[in-house]
Amino acid sequence: MEHYVVKGGTPLVGEVEIAGAKNAALAILAAAIMADEPVTVENVPDVSDIRAIVGAIAEIGAEVSHPDRHTYVINGKTIRYTEPVDNDAVRKIRGSYYLIGSLLGKYSEAQVALPGGCNIGLRPIDQHIKGFRALGAVVKICPPGLVEARADELIGSHIYMDVVSVGATINIIMAAVMAKGNTIIENAAKEPHVVDLANFLNSMGARVRGAGTDVIRIKGVDHLHGTEYSIIPDQIEAGTYMYAAACTRGDVTITNVIPKHLECLTAKLTEIGCEVTESDDSVRVVAAKRLDHTNVKTLPYPGFPTDMQPQIGVLLGLSKGTSIVTESIFENRFRYVDELSKMGASIRVESNTAIIEGVEGYTGANVKAPDLRAGAALVAAALSAQGYSDIYDIHFIERGYEDFPEKLRSLGGCIAKVDNADEERKAINRFNLKVVS
Ligand code: EPZ
Repeated sequence: MEHYVVKGGTPLVGEVEIAGAKNAALAILAAAIMADEPVTVENVPDVSDIRAIVGAIAEIGAEVSHPDRHTYVINGKTIRYTEPVDNDAVRKIRGSYYLIGSLLGKYSEAQVALPGGCNIGLRPIDQHIKGFRALGAVVKICPPGLVEARADELIGSHIYMDVVSVGATINIIMAAVMAKGNTIIENAAKEPHVVDLANFLNSMGARVRGAGTDVIRIKGVDHLHGTEYSIIPDQIEAGTYMYAAACTRGDVTITNVIPKHLECLTAKLTEIGCEVTESDDSVRVVAAKRLDHTNVKTLPYPGFPTDMQPQIGVLLGLSKGTSIVTESIFENRFRYVDELSKMGASIRVESNTAIIEGVEGYTGANVKAPDLRAGAALVAAALSAQGYSDIYDIHFIERGYEDFPEKLRSLGGCIAKVDNADEERKAINRFNLKVVS
């Protein structure tokens, strides 16, 4: 079975380049169908969630070309919007729900399979539905698990979100950009990818103002036109390498980043004793010694992201003293703790809080990735551990990290993707000969 084999104990050292943001790309590719002209989207990460949404877009009739690994050209002119968007891949990813907002916004009609995504909590979509209804759509969940939304005409509205939701904010923006009149979204999410989606839509002629604050104002326009747009760098991929560097007591420069998006991650690293140096588009993380403990609570942006909670949990598991990590966004995001315990971590979970007693080091073990970010965090743990680890269920990790083993190997990490015992033996031989590329 495909898995990663890791030999731990080597500090990560060197430079790594960050790809485009997966969660921005999912929204932007869905929004790209809203024009009847070619839309070029650059800096798209090559990960499985993106291939799934692009597959869905092609399946409903959009013209899609892929001139290079990180660029898609999409023309929504030929979309068969009366057909449901439904296949296995669509049902497995979360981002497919953005096709509800974009199809509804463009055609006043959408039928899309209920989204899947990592099992990190209940993940309701009531706020998305509330927003679509406020714009005048009739929304129903029909067998076999399809969201159907229809309106005679979408009309701008004043919407107050009950919870801060990235997905609902993005979906309501897309549904509102071509609605008649003005829409105001209050208590909107402020994540960098909400801003990126708004900038993208504005480059197509939309009039979205205030993205990045908690009040977003949209003036409906008649149509959207073609554009060329480059996705922002991935805040969470960057953060994952920053925290992996710290776990292995390494020295890594992470390039092609927007340091402003990493501020809360940098602040925590500095607080526990790492050296972090920022330049215009890179950050360098140096962890020369064992780090200190701290407390952290996940919050919507600009708070500490839930998508970095497992990574900081793994790091604090190696730090001096007792740390407390509180998860306030998703109720099921501590599933990595049992796996990390197999590596020697000392963590007690009580409801949405993990009480972490730092240990001197981890030891290699066989573990399973419970979801995307937790999987990446377990790889960081394995890279810091003494001995070998096997990490299974890596399809979760491949949803969101482009070239994960290759990038870690370029930093000196001993990690390989293998499929059977023979490949594993060969990989271990290469690690022992210190041939890691
Ligand atoms: C997005 O999920 C991301 N996914 C997640 O990334 C990320 O963890 C999350 O935002 C928070 O930052 C994508 O962008 C595809 P939310 P989303 O709506 O939109 C509750 C990763 O690893 N809520 O902001 O599904 C919800 O239960 C992933 O890349 C409602 O109650 O998250 C949660 O408690 C995993 N009703 C909170 O809001 C709703 O209608 C925030 O969820 C919607 C959400």
